[in-house]
Amino acid sequence: MLTTIIYRSHLRDDVPVNILPDMVARASLLNARHKVTGILLFNGTHFFQILEGPEEGVQHIYERICSDSRHHNVVELMRDYSPSRRFGNHGMELFDLRQHEAASVLQAVLDRGTSRYRLTYDDRGLQFLRTFVEAREKENYFEVLPADYWDFVPGNDAPPAASGVSFRPVVDPLGREVTAIEAIPEILPGGVTGEERYHHNLTVVIEALRIAGGTCPDGMTLYVSILPMTLVSVPDAIGKLVKEIESAGLLPEQIILGVSETEVISSLDAFSVAVRQLKQAGISLSIDNFGDGSAGLSLLAYVQPDRIRVGASIVRNIHQSGPKQAVVQAVIRCCSALEIKVIVAGIERPEEWMWLEAAGVIDFQGRLFTPESAVVAWPEIREAI
Ligand SMILES: Cc1cc2nc3c(=O)[nH]c(=O)nc-3n(C[C@H](O)[C@H](O)[C@H](O)COP(=O)(O)O)c2cc1C
Repeated sequence: MLTTIIYRSHLRDDVPVNILPDMVARASLLNARHKVTGILLFNGTHFFQILEGPEEGVQHIYERICSDSRHHNVVELMRDYSPSRRFGNHGMELFDLRQHEAASVLQAVLDRGTSRYRLTYDDRGLQFLRTFVEAREKENYFEVLPADYWDFVPGNDAPPAASGVSFRPVVDPLGREVTAIEAIPEILPGGVTGEERYHHNLTVVIEALRIAGGTCPDGMTLYVSILPMTLVSVPDAIGKLVKEIESAGLLPEQIILGVSETEVISSLDAFSVAVRQLKQAGISLSIDNFGDGSAGLSLLAYVQPDRIRVGASIVRNIHQSGPKQAVVQAVIRCCSALEIKVIVAGIERPEEWMWLEAAGVIDFQGRLFTPESAVVAWPEIREAI
């Protein structure tokens, strides 16, 4: 299948530009061997490359390019499939943008086109190319330091311990602060179905709040997940929650109830009424696993939560994926306009965290900071050896 991969990257500061002609000559031969064609642009700092060819060949070459230490911050911008090549004659051709006017480079690149149809900017690949040549989008190039720039050093912040509930902190890694604690009820026997499921869920949440009240530090923000329809289906669910919050010695303002975006909200109207009651009681709402479900950004308009928690799958390796970056940036921008706090869960790699910090996220959860749920490990700049 004819595949296109487009990426951008950053020449390493210690690599001289004069290596490029040799590199391109060698790459051209390798590309020809794999029937891969394409073009490479260089603006003095960043590369932009379109690779086209059979899926296997393009993937093989791209993997080599990703592990090439002469450049870093390789971000895949597009991976697409097409009936024909745009640049069929060129194993690899380099355009050095410093030697051309933007308009003449665009024309020169289009002139290399070999597609049966004249190349036009209706084509997504060429739109990416034009954006790069015109140096738009540069403010969205969040470049991250190498992973080994940081050590993650366990501090003194051990999560509370109790039977029946495990606790997972939400952390602000640069501020070295635990900003909230999530109480996760240990899984209870299943087999509960229908409406009973919601009664059972409320019992579990109430029990988690009772245990958290006895174990968590005073005034700490507490996060508990609940099924959205529990708030609708169980008569006076919110009244029961408020009563339990008070008898556990907690304040409603400390509590955030998280509903997963992947849970079906079968009646959005009834759910919105329940959310209003929650807020009237002083309890905050978070939409969790944001980005994993189907509701998407429109849910933010119907249910204006206090927070969202972005799910792990959309941020996994975000530093390498242009499409993920675009989606998460849109979510961050939208939440910023609505003054909704964004938390990102499931962080495993330093580069994921660094990219998200650069994009404006402050609060995180994930194995990077709480390996095996033990004490919080804070980032510290690694001493040069
Ligand atoms: C910006 C950039 C673009 C590259 N483009 C290609 C390419 O299109 N084809 C290719 O075979 N190698 C390309 N390379 C070089 C590869 O990373 C790699 O060095 C090359 O495939 C030779 O592999 P080897 O060093 O394992 O022999 C590129 C390197 C850089 C830094």
